[in-house]
Amino acid sequence: MDAAAWDERYAASELVWSAGPNAFVVEQVVAHLSDRVPGRAIDLAGGEGRNAIWLAEQGWQAELVEFSPVALEKAAAIAHSRDVTLTTTLADVTAEPDIAPADLVLVCYLQLPSEPLARALAHAASLVAPGGQLLIIAHERDNLAHGYGGPPDPAFLPTVAEVLSAIEGQGLDVAEARQVHRPVDTEAGPREAIDLLVRASRPDATGQE
Ligand SMILES: C[S@@+](CC[C@H](N)C(=O)[O-])C[C@H]1O[C@@H](n2cnc3c(N)ncnc32)[C@H](O)[C@@H]1O
Repeated sequence: MDAAAWDERYAASELVWSAGPNAFVVEQVVAHLSDRVPGRAIDLAGGEGRNAIWLAEQGWQAELVEFSPVALEKAAAIAHSRDVTLTTTLADVTAEPDIAPADLVLVCYLQLPSEPLARALAHAASLVAPGGQLLIIAHERDNLAHGYGGPPDPAFLPTVAEVLSAIEGQGLDVAEARQVHRPVDTEAGPREAIDLLVRASRPDATGQE
């Protein structure tokens, strides 16, 4: 889908995604970053800002990057209504946008074919500041046969190995790379989606992560 198609989708309903943050984002930030003073966070292709706004509420200086102007407008309005500061940036994340590095770089459910996805993920990795972390969450390819929801086309479903290959050579140390199961409530009862989670960090000048 191009930016116009995403705009149309975002304009058609009050909220396309949940108002609250993704559970894996919360889990990972609480487990691995809550002992630090919140710094700068970028949410690439962050949609209506559910994760960026939650990060801002936790004290992060959050920047939401999107190519859908409608998503950015909605996110800015939600951030305003929740009394937090959110920087919104209109950009195509596959075009290596010029964005300042951050202590947390988030890419959540960016649905693109493998080549542009790899380009966007490599660029995301390059934006991690020394001592910072990259968190990638996506629908995993196994979701098609064994999971629930998500894109119906395997071309839009990366494997853990493909994500690792995309961020290789960017100077990050991979801390976690695995499939994760996400419970989904459906009209037919509880189901499980198969996602992937990759967390990597850039050592700082002292070698600490
Ligand atoms: C499935 S949604 C996920 C949104 C958000 N990350 C979340 O988890 O709530 C995918 C988002 O990627 C955005 N997107 C897709 N391709 C993009 C691109 N090339 N540059 C910037 N944003 C893009 C879409 O506008 C959409 O908001």
